[in-house]
Amino acid sequence: MCINTENPSANPQPELTNKSSFYPTTPIRRKWWKESIAYQIYPRSFQDSNGDGVGDIFGMIQRLDHIKNLGADLIWICPIFKSPNDDNGYDISDYQNIMDVFGTMADVDELIKQCHARNMRIIFDLVLNHTSDQHPWFIESRSSRSNPKRDWYIWKDGKPGGLRPNNWESIFNGSAWEYDKETDQYYLHLFSRKMPDVNWECAELRRELYKITRWWLERGIDGFRIDAVSHIKKKPGLPDLPNPNELEFVSSFDYHMNVEGIEEYLDEFKREAYGDLDVVTVGEANGVSADQAVEWVDEERGKFSMIFQFESTNLWDKTLGVIDVLAFKRIMTRWEKSLEKSGWNALFLENHDKPRIVSTWGNDKEYLRDCATAFATVYMLMMGTPFIFQGQEIGMTNVRFPSINDYPDVAARNFYNLQLAKGVDHDELMKIIHMTGRDNARTPMQWDDSLNAGFSTAQQTWIGVNPNYVRINVAQQEKDETSVLNFYKRLIRLRKEHDLFTYGIYDLILSNNKQIYGYTRTSDMKRAYILTNLTGRVAQFGLYQGLSSSQLVLTNLIEPVPEHKDEKSFKFRPYEIRVYIIDHQKKESHHCRKDEKTKHTTDQTELKTTDESLTKLKKVASQKLEHVSYNPLHLTEQDQKDIIATLAEATTQALSEAETSKQPSITIDQEKVMPDSSEIDLENESINKKRQRQRSLVLNPENVTPAMQNDPSSLNQQCQLFTCLTSPKPSAVGHHADSSSDDDDDENKKKTITTAENEEESIDTSENDVDYSVLNDESIQDFSFTSAREQTKKRMLHDEEEFALKQGKE
Ligand code: GLC
Repeated sequence: MCINTENPSANPQPELTNKSSFYPTTPIRRKWWKESIAYQIYPRSFQDSNGDGVGDIFGMIQRLDHIKNLGADLIWICPIFKSPNDDNGYDISDYQNIMDVFGTMADVDELIKQCHARNMRIIFDLVLNHTSDQHPWFIESRSSRSNPKRDWYIWKDGKPGGLRPNNWESIFNGSAWEYDKETDQYYLHLFSRKMPDVNWECAELRRELYKITRWWLERGIDGFRIDAVSHIKKKPGLPDLPNPNELEFVSSFDYHMNVEGIEEYLDEFKREAYGDLDVVTVGEANGVSADQAVEWVDEERGKFSMIFQFESTNLWDKTLGVIDVLAFKRIMTRWEKSLEKSGWNALFLENHDKPRIVSTWGNDKEYLRDCATAFATVYMLMMGTPFIFQGQEIGMTNVRFPSINDYPDVAARNFYNLQLAKGVDHDELMKIIHMTGRDNARTPMQWDDSLNAGFSTAQQTWIGVNPNYVRINVAQQEKDETSVLNFYKRLIRLRKEHDLFTYGIYDLILSNNKQIYGYTRTSDMKRAYILTNLTGRVAQFGLYQGLSSSQLVLTNLIEPVPEHKDEKSFKFRPYEIRVYIIDHQKKESHHCRKDEKTKHTTDQTELKTTDESLTKLKKVASQKLEHVSYNPLHLTEQDQKDIIATLAEATTQALSEAETSKQPSITIDQEKVMPDSSEIDLENESINKKRQRQRSLVLNPENVTPAMQNDPSSLNQQCQLFTCLTSPKPSAVGHHADSSSDDDDDENKKKTITTAENEEESIDTSENDVDYSVLNDESIQDFSFTSAREQTKKRMLHDEEEFALKQGKE
């Protein structure tokens, strides 16, 4: 809350800008936290300053300059409050005191001061879904059924016959209920049994939580991340879950994750604790879908500044560690587009609950540097506040300790013990833990190649150091211009230098390419192309927009990219990335402004307005479009409706014209490109039908809600949509990253590409993305440490069966 006014990025008052512009834009609502780069510290593993083998607050202070030099300016620290450490601090026994191993309250004050002195902000991790069973509230609560704090936790009688109150499974495995002999009742714990859930239905308890939150804000922190906040409301009556498979415990997310009515608690929390302050709040919101997220983070009505979503985390579970580029695009685009108008995203790939990205979706052996930099680029230039998890900036990898005793994580241990008791083999279990364990992210920060990677001088650290620290460490990477660390610094500088990367509109391009994740960021005079190959294979693709080396602002190649001018055909090496910026202010400053606009608001490079084949109707729409780009805010409602109707009509016509037009084809160098990196011809009937359905949903004025009609930005998007559709290249629109489509897969086998699918979809529309996102929203699956492990187990079984089959055949 203590805002350092010297912070150049500080801008407490939202500033609305809507300059007349070259490209269609939406109004910018400026906030300091939108312009921040966040860095997450896992305190136990960051820096030990006193040689006890555990990281601490003073250690953090010592290393603040590392974060500062990286370019990050918002620090999130995982819990440092008093805790018996069943779950490394997420089990809090005193919210207003600091864990002894971490230091004192005076150290915390110093940390806050030191952050602010460096123009950085700091947020804490608030855990309000549960406490430790050692918290005085719980000790009181469990002391007798009539204790005044009994109701602060969730107590229930067992069912007759000594059965638990219901069949819910804990997120950390086993039953979600623990029996208390003294009072002969059970208490609910969604996480470990030493972390009882507090009862948010109790107003007195809620008031106490708000007070604590406020107390910390007044002490000087700049906001907080709220742990497991989507779990605070439980399904009324705590009923049994359906159990068709007669399991001992049933995965219980449906009954305690984002349950209806949670918004009342969240509204109250905001009103009572922080709504009046200029702070940043990030909710950990498992189970909240992209379309629901708007309610959570809407700038007026929302509860938090942003939320951590779990869809991409789930994707990792589902695809068993192998990246599905199409699905990843679909998910990220869904979130980008859903929150484009009035919300904000928290962007992340790693955190303390997930294995390392280079070891899961990347390739930490052959391509460590390349994949670390590619993954950095793909998410950090999106619209949202990027979060970097400690060690990610040097490409830290997963670890493989031999014994379960090397893994302190309570979730891993629970899993291991339960499965072992069921007779599963130790080696099998260790394989699963190696792949999915949270401790992969929690090994000490690798600062240099001295003892314990420079993390601690202790003989024994609280968790083992990853032996690859000798090779992968900060000191070594600081010296190496080509290192992951130095790439991160360049990337962050780039983001900070161009407002475009903070406020520009995101649009997906190359939506059907299975290797390249490409997108654009567009603001009034600039457009950036972010092109990343997320696979370990060469990728070839083409764009509508020619790009030149003079526009190249970032690459992860070590040797210089060969000079090129207006290049439309690209071949990317494994994990290669490039970022280009087209700056029309620079490029065309000698042109008169009116001409520029006519030419470029349509963006699809000159094209459309000069195209002979434009029908009269399309020309009318174009003129209207030009009009809109001049002055989107001053249109009457009727004007807006007219424009939308004209555009829609023209679009439908353009579509049917375009679909009958013939597409030229390009042949690619088959030898050097892996089959699935080739582009595909999707123009078959069923795909067209599918797309038309999606387009008509966004194009039909009936489907444009009144709110959209009154919203100049949505008008702009309609315009963008139109300009796409007036292109003589039909498949430049309706991009649809639905990777599961059978049609797509069949077509995938074709060996030729059309320019239509091959080329970039320069002004791809938000509506298309929003369209597919909403319509094809898969149900949000639970994120549980259990589910990841279940998947891994299945895969291992599958591999074994395949192996046995092969051997049988031989
Ligand atoms: C969140 C935290 C995780 C913790 C759990 C229980 O998911 O990120 O580390 O174990 O909540 O507090």
